Amino acid sequence: MAKSDAPAASTADRDQIVRLVFGTMAAQTLRAAVRLRVVERIGNTPRTAADVAAEAGTEQQPMTRLLRALTSLGLLNEPTPGAYSVTGAGALLHRQHVGSVASFVRVFTEPAVVRAWEHLDGSIRTGRPAFDTVFGTDFFSHLGQSPELSAEFNAAMSQAVSETAAALPHAYDFSRFTTVTDVGGGDATLLAGVLTAHPHLTGVVFDTAEGLAQAPSTLERHGLKERCSLIAGDFFTSVPEGSGLYLMKSVLHDWTDDQAVTILGHCRDALPPDGLLLVVEPVLPEVADTHTGTGIADDAVTYLSDLNMLVNLGGRERTRQDFQDLCRRAGLVLTSSTPLADAEPFSLLEARPG
Ligand SMILES: C[S@@+](CC[C@H](N)C(=O)[O-])C[C@H]1O[C@@H](n2cnc3c(N)ncnc32)[C@H](O)[C@@H]1O
Repeated sequence: MAKSDAPAASTADRDQIVRLVFGTMAAQTLRAAVRLRVVERIGNTPRTAADVAAEAGTEQQPMTRLLRALTSLGLLNEPTPGAYSVTGAGALLHRQHVGSVASFVRVFTEPAVVRAWEHLDGSIRTGRPAFDTVFGTDFFSHLGQSPELSAEFNAAMSQAVSETAAALPHAYDFSRFTTVTDVGGGDATLLAGVLTAHPHLTGVVFDTAEGLAQAPSTLERHGLKERCSLIAGDFFTSVPEGSGLYLMKSVLHDWTDDQAVTILGHCRDALPPDGLLLVVEPVLPEVADTHTGTGIADDAVTYLSDLNMLVNLGGRERTRQDFQDLCRRAGLVLTSSTPLADAEPFSLLEARPG
């Protein structure tokens, strides 16, 4: 093997590699904290590891080790030796906290997401998702077989979409429309944000029956049951007609180019001649930037999501040119692509019938 002529590595370079590799352990540490409800048990006043362990039904010494590790990750403080309190970031692991990411942590550390990653090299070789080989079925069918996992997935998506649900209503001109359909809209969190901010609108959430399972309670919570209907179906068969605007967030990245063209084509078929489609996805730059700091940069999250789509679903993150090509193949014209302020890394991609 030829010797590398890359510049000599510094200690900081070596530390960067170690930190990145230990990232999987950090993620599993958060998973244990969520499963053992550590943050809920600590509450608002410092508590000893012995108290938390007794309440969680664990051994005391391993609980101390977990709490120390969480402290080193910035999720807890140790204000007096042996007693722990929750930081602002740590509070987000509380299931009932506004802005909680507890379900997001659970789902993204689940075997259903993590196991196929052991075979990423295989997916790079073949371009196909390892998930299907590991689990004997595709990702969404697997979710369909487990209502509990599916509910947790829907909750994780809801937690992940909350920033976008706050930003989108003020970032796009919804006054031109009377009805909006959210294709693959899951538990209706995104559409609830739009409808709440624009009282003249009515809405439709279109998703599979499993995807919609938690949507009635979201609509109930937002007082939107009268203004929003739920339609169960399969976007590989058709998308329901009847709206002037179709919204689609974090759906296309789940699928291959050919599958994405099929979904877009069905949106195109449902659109009236003056209708519009608004896709909300990250848009990759044409050239990737090298990150010079330590840890995982914001951009890296999108590139890692790209690999996650490959290994678990066979999908991909895309550049503007990629979206333009998909739209053209589906009989649509991409009219604009605008970064969505306050909801990085997402952009708004608007398309009209071609
Ligand atoms: C990654 S989630 C995104 C959910 C939501 N749009 C968001 O951004 O939080 C993809 C959604 O597509 C839905 N989905 C998957 N396959 C589908 C199909 N064949 N027809 C309709 N919806 C589907 C899933 O149930 C899920 O709600």
